[in-house]
Amino acid sequence: MTVKIFDTPEVQDFLKTVAGFDQAGGDERAKQIMHRLLSDLFRLIDDFDVTPEEYWSAVSVLNALGQGTQFGLLSPGLGFDHFLDMRMDAADEAARRNGGTPRTIEGPLYVAGAPEAVGFARMDDGRDPDGETMWLTGQVRDTDGKPIAGAKVEIWHADSKGGYSFFDPSQSEYNLRRTIVTDAEGRYTARSIIPSGYGVPEGCATDQVLKALGRHGERPAHIHYFISAPGYRHLTTQINLAGDPYTFDDFAFATREELVIEGQRIEDAAEAEKRGLEGLFTEVVFDVELAATDAPELQTRHARPRAKESEEAVSEQAATAQV
Ligand SMILES: [Fe+2]
Repeated sequence: MTVKIFDTPEVQDFLKTVAGFDQAGGDERAKQIMHRLLSDLFRLIDDFDVTPEEYWSAVSVLNALGQGTQFGLLSPGLGFDHFLDMRMDAADEAARRNGGTPRTIEGPLYVAGAPEAVGFARMDDGRDPDGETMWLTGQVRDTDGKPIAGAKVEIWHADSKGGYSFFDPSQSEYNLRRTIVTDAEGRYTARSIIPSGYGVPEGCATDQVLKALGRHGERPAHIHYFISAPGYRHLTTQINLAGDPYTFDDFAFATREELVIEGQRIEDAAEAEKRGLEGLFTEVVFDVELAATDAPELQTRHARPRAKESEEAVSEQAATAQV
């Protein structure tokens, strides 16, 4: 039996009470947002005639997501991270802040405090038997093409099985995570291993939600970046390696055309020797363009709970994910 009660004075008054409108304490913005959120959901229950069984199974999925600290994983899967990027892009455009390498989502797996080096760093600990050597390099420039020396390039990526150190306890501390400060020519170089793409764990709550939508939870091989320098807009981005089956079918919607990079397989022994390597390797070149700004708030990454960055362990989990 379909009934519609949302517009009745009884339900409307009830929503105001639930959102604390008649209470002096609390936070005004929180009240407004909760009132809107609950109103939209109550209306949805009415419109779709949601049954008690459906409602309680949704509660159960939410509990499972929380237990697995998976909201940070489902969030990009449901497009929230990309939607926030679209809003930031639109805000930049409205403010005529043009130029620079495009941003894309941070994801939930950054860990603060990675070892720092100038110019060059080796990122892998040499313990991944399937790790194929990657030579990752590039130049950080301003929008006129002038190199930016001393820019901070933070890089993190997965291993050959798609796992991230810290979240994957089998890896050594800060494996595949480094901060490289650009040299006098604005260049950074990392020796590392080609990351694998990865999927959300089979059967986890995020997987359940995606499966209900007929979607997969796979990401292509990718490499995350934070790039910053005084006087320039902080950039959160990532590159996708070309040729992965999911390069243009990323469950997290992070792929942007300009950020797809084709690695070059190099088999020339002399080229390997020049870099202190043995055997074949893949060179990945990612040059970055930073846009200038005087606004200090645009020169740093926005606040969010991040592993080893936040003081509170609980909030540290809030945006991360056990994968
Ligand atoms: Fe990632």
